[in-house]
Amino acid sequence: MAQSKENIPRHVAVIMDGNGRWAEKRKLPRVMGHNAGMRSMREIVRRSSDMGIEYLTVYAFSTENWKRSEEEVGGIFRLLVKFVDSDLEELYRNNVRVNVLGDWRKLPAAAVDRLEKTIERTKENDGMCFNICLNYGSRAEITDAVRELAQKVKSGEIEPEDIDEQAISGALLTGKFDIPDPDLLIRTSGEIRISNYLLWQIAYSEMIFTDILWPDLDPDTYEELVLSYKDRDRRFGGRNK
Ligand code: IPE
Ligand code: IPE
Ligand code: MG
Repeated sequence: MAQSKENIPRHVAVIMDGNGRWAEKRKLPRVMGHNAGMRSMREIVRRSSDMGIEYLTVYAFSTENWKRSEEEVGGIFRLLVKFVDSDLEELYRNNVRVNVLGDWRKLPAAAVDRLEKTIERTKENDGMCFNICLNYGSRAEITDAVRELAQKVKSGEIEPEDIDEQAISGALLTGKFDIPDPDLLIRTSGEIRISNYLLWQIAYSEMIFTDILWPDLDPDTYEELVLSYKDRDRRFGGRNK
């Protein structure tokens, strides 16, 4: 696993999709798919950290996911509590720092409690930064950032001319946590869409869409996908040759 750091993306963002279909294929309740998805997430976090990825950002629950049944939504949050209870010490030992992005304080109390505990326990760690997007929506994030900047103009703290791309990036949740833009975005389950994820931040990210359902994504395959990044020719509008 001794890869040169130049070959791997600094920041990998993941849309963990396909839990429901994984369960349906097995005639299991959807929540069993989310359970398998949590197991997959645990493995991917471990492998990412072993590979030396600096930032891993996962989409765990969107602002739109509240449209699902109460049973499914409740099940997802119960699994999140279970994940933290079983994995927090391992994350801590592996020097992983956990951030949570989104309006996660609106989650059920048990989940909020565990998330607070996780953030507090890992805040001094300086290994991989693991960002969990929970009750996250990119448009909501951008809206909040715009409102914050407007307030600053209103109070005279800044002038309208001070609002540049850097100021906007800094006012986003990722900016507040000093998370750079993703180099690579991976979405599982065959859907080729972004679903309100990191819209501003992925302006120049490389993207991989795989048909593999999230619970089926094993760490070796994940590592191969991440390493395929080295063959991408990132031009950012310029010319490399
Ligand atoms: C992703 O899996 C997990 C969440 C959105 C919480 P899905 O539950 O969306 O799985 P599919 O897309 O229905 O297969
Ligand atoms: C995106 O998946 C959100 C998460 C993975 C948490 P969805 O399954 O909610 O996306 P759509 O509805 O298919 O676009
Ligand atoms: Mg889905």
